[in-house]
Amino acid sequence: MKMQLTPARAAAILAFVAQAGAAPTTIQAASNAGASTADPYPPSGTAVNSALFPPESKVGFPGPTPTGAEPAAIQTAKSYPYNDGNANQFPLVNPQPHGSDAERSTFDISKYWGNLSPWYSLRSADYGLPDANPLAPEGCDVTQVHLLYRHGARYPTSGAAPATFAQKVMNATKTGLSVSGDLSFLADWTYKLGAELLTPFGRSQNFLLGIEYRQLYGHLLNNFTESKTIPVFRTESQDRMVKTAENFAAGFFGVPEYLDEVNIEILVETLGVNNSGAPYEICNNSNIATKGSIGSTVANKFSVNAFNSTIARLQSQASGINFTSTDAIAMLQLCSYETHALGYSAFCDLFSEEDYLNYEYYFDLSFYYNNGPGSPVAAAQGKGYLDEFIARFTGKYPSAQSALNETFDNTTTFFPLNQSIYADATHEVVVLDTLTAFNLTALFDGPPLDAAGNRRQNSFVASKLVPFATHFTTQVLSCPAMQPTKQIRFIVNDAVIPLHNSHSGCPNDPNGLCSFDNVVSVLQKRSAEINFNYDCFANYTASAGHDYNGRAPKS
Ligand SMILES: *[C@@H]1O[C@H](CO)[C@@H](O)[C@H](O)[C@H]1NC(C)=O
Ligand SMILES: *[C@@H]1O[C@H](CO)[C@@H](O)[C@H](O)[C@H]1NC(C)=O
Ligand SMILES: *[C@@H]1O[C@H](CO)[C@@H](O)[C@H](O)[C@H]1NC(C)=O
Ligand SMILES: *[C@@H]1O[C@H](CO)[C@@H](O)[C@H](O)[C@H]1NC(C)=O
Ligand SMILES: *[C@@H]1O[C@H](CO)[C@@H](O)[C@H](O)[C@H]1NC(C)=O
Ligand SMILES: *[C@@H]1O[C@H](CO)[C@@H](O)[C@H](O)[C@H]1NC(C)=O
Ligand SMILES: *[C@@H]1O[C@H](CO)[C@@H](O)[C@H](O)[C@H]1NC(C)=O
Ligand SMILES: *[C@@H]1O[C@H](CO)[C@@H](O)[C@H](O)[C@H]1NC(C)=O
Ligand SMILES: *[C@@H]1O[C@H](CO)[C@@H](O)[C@H](O)[C@H]1NC(C)=O
Ligand SMILES: *[C@@H]1O[C@H](CO)[C@@H](O)[C@H](O)[C@H]1NC(C)=O
Ligand SMILES: *[C@@H]1O[C@H](CO)[C@@H](O)[C@H](O)[C@H]1NC(C)=O
Repeated sequence: MKMQLTPARAAAILAFVAQAGAAPTTIQAASNAGASTADPYPPSGTAVNSALFPPESKVGFPGPTPTGAEPAAIQTAKSYPYNDGNANQFPLVNPQPHGSDAERSTFDISKYWGNLSPWYSLRSADYGLPDANPLAPEGCDVTQVHLLYRHGARYPTSGAAPATFAQKVMNATKTGLSVSGDLSFLADWTYKLGAELLTPFGRSQNFLLGIEYRQLYGHLLNNFTESKTIPVFRTESQDRMVKTAENFAAGFFGVPEYLDEVNIEILVETLGVNNSGAPYEICNNSNIATKGSIGSTVANKFSVNAFNSTIARLQSQASGINFTSTDAIAMLQLCSYETHALGYSAFCDLFSEEDYLNYEYYFDLSFYYNNGPGSPVAAAQGKGYLDEFIARFTGKYPSAQSALNETFDNTTTFFPLNQSIYADATHEVVVLDTLTAFNLTALFDGPPLDAAGNRRQNSFVASKLVPFATHFTTQVLSCPAMQPTKQIRFIVNDAVIPLHNSHSGCPNDPNGLCSFDNVVSVLQKRSAEINFNYDCFANYTASAGHDYNGRAPKS
């Protein structure tokens, strides 16, 4: 934003210079140009209300919490995690793919891990806005920010492929497993992962996101200072979700300040309970394979043929065990999960560049058809957040025709409608459901994903939209030189998303801006066309290969 040196601002700067080194109050006042108060955040007299916003121990429903073995990368890693400036993956060690020239290759294997990738910045140019970036466009001030973000790196979910593979190896060990070459490490490999919980690296991703958002949007706290309130940030009851919100808050407010400066609202996540952050607990069709996980089916089918040459190479180095495509996926997942949890994984070395491209495509298929436009239940599941965002945009409480929980969405205490900063934590599937519900179709530009593996005809890439700590940001802006002055835009992992092809009435703006009122009315139409009850409960027929715009076909 361009700032005029008004007399008031000049006086504030002079006061700051004169008292440099004095109490932090002064510093805050100086940076708070134009505000009527000199108080810093948090406003005096405010406190968290642990009766209304009970902690994890009171809310319950933490889900399974099996811990794993302690990492010991100092002994197990093949190379030391030097900090060479790649903040997205430090301190993880990512080797080059099998068969590549380690000296010359710049292939980053961790960008091909689908929802198990660490998030990294996308560029607006990837989605058709070459001149846009997330900085406030010239002549505009950001007046409000809405953040929807995913937990950082976690252990595998309960019952995922890696634990089954470990059991298969242990069984083979008992009956006579012999390994050589690339697979030699399997002879004394043990399974060290827990389940469900955030890993140390995962904590850092949410903590760092909190720091980043304080640095970018800290000035919006002045709004709370003026009204002598503190914000409500929301999450779900699973242990990793609570820890995610706490790590974000710790980064945003500081330790121990976060304990006093924000009310963290924990919504129960368990089967049968309404919760916008966990809609699959109430949307029955999302748990029926032929409707809610057609992506998993088509992805598994793709994987059957995708890894044959690597499986043949590995099989030639092992006897007493027969590797299948399921094992290939499990070993690739072990690469991702062990790297996140232990800092390093010997499994990563087993796979070629082509394998990593296929691994990513496996996730692309899975997410496009489970939670993107190819899914008949994606928009319905994203409708809870869509309606909650519309409520915050319009200042009117939403009605419950989605997974949202009206008990939490109808009072200013639990669901404030006038915050300058919102931050809700959720799961990657729900982030993608929400992007689908918002009709941000530039993220899915092109024909439906080809089940046979003919890649890259569509702009959708899972590791870009659903990685660990992925985040969807809405900026509300005041742009005095524009007509109307109140503008809005949407940003996914730092890429500004164009609206002109998807949100009727939005111009082809180089910064992705559109009239706030226009976008709200398009979103209201979108919400009205998403039939939660039909999509989630009716018995219709759906299949892969279609772009359903996230909604159930009428059949
Ligand atoms: C390992 O062996 C046990 C006991 O025989 C069996 O129940 C289990 O299914 C086996 N697991 C795998 C993955 O082969
Ligand atoms: C929001 O509204 C509530 C209830 O009217 C009020 O107490 C609070 O001060 C307002 N908060 C902000 C940040 O304006
Ligand atoms: C709303 O959430 C509360 C607690 O999170 C839960 O007890 C209640 O059952 C939920 N309501 C519905 C209709 O699921
Ligand atoms: C959805 O599933 C739940 C739990 O299995 C069941 O109690 C409920 O009746 C189902 N709802 C509908 C509308 O079928
Ligand atoms: C890959 O291996 C599977 C399982 O052995 C086999 O069914 C399939 O025909 C093979 N595909 C190709 C392209 O060789
Ligand atoms: C592996 O497959 C071969 C050929 O089908 C079979 O003879 C052998 O018993 C299998 N080995 C194991 C450990 O399952
Ligand atoms: C829970 O969700 C169902 C399905 O949309 C809805 O009918 C019901 O009113 C909701 N209940 C509450 C308390 O939000
Ligand atoms: C909020 O929703 C709950 C549950 O549906 C209901 O019992 C309560 O009366 C509502 N409160 C208001 C102020 O509408
Ligand atoms: C705080 O922000 C909200 C949302 O942008 C706005 O409605 C309200 O007027 C602001 N309050 C003050 C005191 O600036
Ligand atoms: C969603 O976007 C598509 C273009 O991709 C457009 O045809 C459709 O009308 C939009 N839906 C709504 C409700 O605006
Ligand atoms: C849904 O429809 C299919 C095909 O008509 C039928 O075979 C199936 O039994 C139905 N399922 C339920 C739960 O009604």
